[in-house]
Amino acid sequence: MCGIVAYIGKKEAYPIIVKGLKRLEYRGYDSAGIALLNNNGLNIYKKQGKVSNLEDFTHDKDKMGYAGIGHTRWATHGPPNDVNSHPHSSEDGDIALIHNGIIENYDAIKQRLTNNGYKFKSDTDTEVLTYLIDDIKKNSSVSVAEAVRLALQQVVGAYAIVVISKSNPNQLVAARKSSPLVLGIGKENDFYLASDATPIVEYTKKVVYMEDEEIAIVDLDEGLKLYSIDDVEKTPYVQELELQLEALEKGGYEHFMLKEIHEQPRSIKDCFRGRLNAEKGWVSLGGIKDYEDKMTKANRIIMIACGTSWHAGLVGEYLFEDLARINVEVEYASEFRYRNPIINENDIVIAISQSGETADTLAALELAKSKGATILGICNVVGSSISRITDAGSYTHAGPEIGVASTKAFTAQVTVLTLMALSLAKIKGTINETKFRTMLSELEAIPQKVQQILDKNEDIKIISEKYQGASNALYLGRGSSFPVALEGALKLKEISYIHAEGYPAAEMKHGPIALIDEAMPVFVIATSGPSYEKLVSNIQEVKARKGKLIAIVTEGDEQVHEIADHTIDIPDTDEHLVPLLATIPLQLLSYHIAVMRNCNVDQPRNLAKSVTVE
Ligand code: M6R
Repeated sequence: MCGIVAYIGKKEAYPIIVKGLKRLEYRGYDSAGIALLNNNGLNIYKKQGKVSNLEDFTHDKDKMGYAGIGHTRWATHGPPNDVNSHPHSSEDGDIALIHNGIIENYDAIKQRLTNNGYKFKSDTDTEVLTYLIDDIKKNSSVSVAEAVRLALQQVVGAYAIVVISKSNPNQLVAARKSSPLVLGIGKENDFYLASDATPIVEYTKKVVYMEDEEIAIVDLDEGLKLYSIDDVEKTPYVQELELQLEALEKGGYEHFMLKEIHEQPRSIKDCFRGRLNAEKGWVSLGGIKDYEDKMTKANRIIMIACGTSWHAGLVGEYLFEDLARINVEVEYASEFRYRNPIINENDIVIAISQSGETADTLAALELAKSKGATILGICNVVGSSISRITDAGSYTHAGPEIGVASTKAFTAQVTVLTLMALSLAKIKGTINETKFRTMLSELEAIPQKVQQILDKNEDIKIISEKYQGASNALYLGRGSSFPVALEGALKLKEISYIHAEGYPAAEMKHGPIALIDEAMPVFVIATSGPSYEKLVSNIQEVKARKGKLIAIVTEGDEQVHEIADHTIDIPDTDEHLVPLLATIPLQLLSYHIAVMRNCNVDQPRNLAKSVTVE
């Protein structure tokens, strides 16, 4: 939540920062702002709305600057408006600051500073931190960097900040705690700072992922210096970025979401590349190899996640329990962390997160770690906070996901969970060789089957047209298709703003059935398998109440075809792998409905891709 970018060096800072802000806009788009330092002083421009508004606003302004900081906001304290936008500056205009995170004790600090005569212009916690740094700088007669360090010692909460100052024109000072910050080391003694590596990748591949409570000073003369918040100098750990620039472009698609939906044959294949060989009959996840023995012996595995990643965890629960006979609990990270959960050294906690930065998931993981549990991660973003604090884990290798609505990250998470379940089942001997090999072959065939579904895009668009005016929608599924129903409903509501609910199909008669009338579209995953007959009964119940039925069925299906208003065929596969296929038409339906309703599918209102506040 909130994206920050900064630059200092020989290049013009404005284009670098604006381009970077556009890449980070997925993190929040309530307002955008920039502060530019040149020989005439520090110019600050900020505007409510998207980065393009900021560009319009600055088109006739002085945009020169060898250093600058930029921010795209997801509002926490105070409504989205120009005044609450970042950067925030000190009263004398000497320093300006951008911030991603929340200063929890801002109110107490604000009271103190108000008593000292400070007058606040905005409602934000960030302005409080800016004034605190200014206050310390003046009253203790210390440098900006030292004032930042001392101020952060007083702060409770999460932050990634960058500070620029007129009186210290050769430096940027940056710090982080619980909010991500990446530092790029340029080729010409120039430096980049950003919430993730996407604004940096086209300028340099040498990066430092800053750790919690680290302060970086980048200086045009002295280069990079890294300190702990206790003022101990540290050696920066410089890493090589693997990110490719093309992965950050739309590649001819109208939206990132559509591109990412269409990337799934490739992303699923990338996910199992080198980890599975159906012909030779093996599956191996190198990242968790050393923990597999412990996993097979665990009394239970707890999966923690939020949103779509939580849905992937629910699919994982079916897979682990059915294939490997391991007891699994799936928890919302935000509930788990505040529930005083019973955890000990025998427990294994797996965090699932696309971004690897979700504040609740990170905090839940830290809690589990403090109680002695083994903590593992399934993340997409390489080098993310979760991937760094876990004992071990498996990356999903889906590539950058820019659309706020998660699509390819979900199928990649489910793929990793399937590989894990198969590997554990093999070790435990809970799967026979024939079934194991059949499942490996089926898994290898999934990318091509996903492509077959994507090829039906035009038919799915025609169905979408009929439901673009709906106010409510219901999604039903049984077994591992229940989380797919939840995911389908989440996808529709978050990008089209149509109210949608996912339910286990059999639960419908315990309440939701009251909602069904001729205006209610009901999306049902009714693929062949052990629950098929039961699902047909549920479908009949919907039809009897005149609900509009859109069913995802297995190719060759006749029974549901007869009853449903629309059917979308998906190729036959092993029942454990159905979620990987059934999800695809639901993603496309949501996408088309949202586009038809003129919604911003890549940046839905009120949302942010990376939820780094609790
Ligand atoms: O990065 P994470 O996977 O931890 O994010 C979790 C949720 O915020 C995320 O899945 C969210 O629900 C998406 N908008 C869903 O499309």
